[in-house]
Amino acid sequence: MKEQSIDKQIMLAPLAGVTDVSFRLICEKYGADKTFTEMVSCKALYYDNKKTEDLIFIADEEKHCNIQLFGSDPLVIKKVLKEKINPIDKITDISFNMGCPVPKVTKNGEGSQLMANPSLVRDICETLVENTDKKVNIKFRLGLDEDYKNFVQIGKIAQNAGVDYAILHGRTKKQMYTGKADWTAIKELKQALDIPVIANGDIFSVEDYIEIMEETGADGVMLARGAMGNPFLFKQIKDYIKTGNYKKTRGIEIIDQVIEHYNLGLKYKREDLVITQMRKHISWYTKGLKNSSKLRQEINMLNDKDQIFDLLDKYRNSLEG
Ligand SMILES: Cc1cc2nc3c(=O)[nH]c(=O)nc-3n(C[C@H](O)[C@H](O)[C@H](O)COP(=O)(O)O)c2cc1C
Repeated sequence: MKEQSIDKQIMLAPLAGVTDVSFRLICEKYGADKTFTEMVSCKALYYDNKKTEDLIFIADEEKHCNIQLFGSDPLVIKKVLKEKINPIDKITDISFNMGCPVPKVTKNGEGSQLMANPSLVRDICETLVENTDKKVNIKFRLGLDEDYKNFVQIGKIAQNAGVDYAILHGRTKKQMYTGKADWTAIKELKQALDIPVIANGDIFSVEDYIEIMEETGADGVMLARGAMGNPFLFKQIKDYIKTGNYKKTRGIEIIDQVIEHYNLGLKYKREDLVITQMRKHISWYTKGLKNSSKLRQEINMLNDKDQIFDLLDKYRNSLEG
């Protein structure tokens, strides 16, 4: 019998191009109960694509990392589970993506486009549950657009197939990331299902966390853009739960975290990749800090890690003064 309780967990969402080993480790450090790889193509794993296989690499230090898959062919999914995913002892959960709105994915009938095909959703959920002992969740949206919202139907299909928990992002496929996430829809799903429901969409602060938990009655939350450049949010929420208080993050702590993030990246990836990837992380981390636009401009021009570390040190000192 698989454990059902998600027990108010705070999870890091799968984020393409963002939730690599280094960022996952940092979010674990601040208290993320579960983290996920970015969405990984079952078809590419099926064909032994080397770059895709790198995406399911999980470091020894990671304690709570799991994998998110996407695809649409139950036979491919079955083979990938048996050969590539089940042997990874470290992961306890598999998330299946039914929410990605990006045309490159939806044009193949994958991601959020699956919601237009409930019988295929059923087949996929049954395939997942029958072919792994790991916990399975589906991560989905409200539906295709304002006139086609079938999240309760999809949630019930998943529940009947034996899926362990549901993660709902309160937007439609058409909305992409615009507008405000609809938290009342998450409440509706929570009331309709017996399996745990995890709330996702627009949690950027401790106050948002309190509100979404109160408003939806969800079993837990998943942080996405709110964690980008702000992994501290996990700790702030946990501190708030424990003590009723939390501390704001100081500029110096943010820069120390940038430096740690950089070093972790260099441990796992090629330097040139880290330099380009860290530019976007730095832009998220430093948003709103004193004179930070100049720092970002300068960092974006540099291709040498020692010069970048020098610049970060100088900037850190300027915050101390
Ligand atoms: C840069 C980026 C990459 C994303 N990649 C994935 C992904 O690989 N798999 C997935 O299920 N959702 C992905 N999402 C969606 C998020 O996991 C999340 O559902 C969405 O951003 C809503 O949460 P938020 O409002 O807290 O950001 C991505 C979102 C962003 C902004």
